[in-house]
Amino acid sequence: MQNSIKLRKFTPNDLQTVMKINRICLPENYSDAFFMDLYRRFPETYIVAQEEGKIIGYIMCRIEVGLSNFGFEGLIRKGHVVSIAVLPNGRRKGVAQGLMEFAMKGMLNYKAKQCYLEVRATNDAGVALYKKLGFEIIRTSYGYYSDGEDAYIMGKKL
Ligand SMILES: CC(C)(COP(=O)(O)OP(=O)(O)OC[C@H]1O[C@@H](n2cnc3c(N)ncnc32)[C@H](O)[C@@H]1OP(=O)(O)O)[C@@H](O)C(=O)NCCC(=O)NCCS
Repeated sequence: MQNSIKLRKFTPNDLQTVMKINRICLPENYSDAFFMDLYRRFPETYIVAQEEGKIIGYIMCRIEVGLSNFGFEGLIRKGHVVSIAVLPNGRRKGVAQGLMEFAMKGMLNYKAKQCYLEVRATNDAGVALYKKLGFEIIRTSYGYYSDGEDAYIMGKKL
């Protein structure tokens, strides 16, 4: 990632900008209460990327308890990437990779053992990003999105 780009934890002052980036980049949008709830509960995995003082991307996650995606381990803590986006002008500079790596370190602070996420099956950029980071496709969730598109559930051990 270029030196001009800095990663830091989200603060409530960032809310409107992050919500705007979410609306520009993704069809899955949420209320301000939803964004703030994730911040209050999981601040270590809520990260923004800044270039020349302007926020150009974010990642927000949740820690959940559930079954392992890799063999039988009983119930474990898993980090779930709820949303990640980088503004079009900031792409292909390693920002999303940096955000994912920062957030996955944060997941360890919550004792998460694995990370997982949903990605549209046609989202080649997203799938390539996660594969580069060592994620594998666990399964397909057919018709997962509200417009009927399938999701890949991708996961990785931390
Ligand atoms: C997916 C997204 C977050 C990637 O952000 P980014 O900052 O451009 O990604 P990075 O620069 O960190 O890319 C890291 C790696 O991911 C892969 N990648 C990223 N964008 C890619 C693309 N358009 N095509 C192919 N591979 C891509 C590459 O392997 C890349 O490494 P490289 O540049 O050395 O080849 C961004 O395109 C985006 O915001 N898209 C819209 C929102 C979205 O789809 N979010 C994910 C929903 S699950």
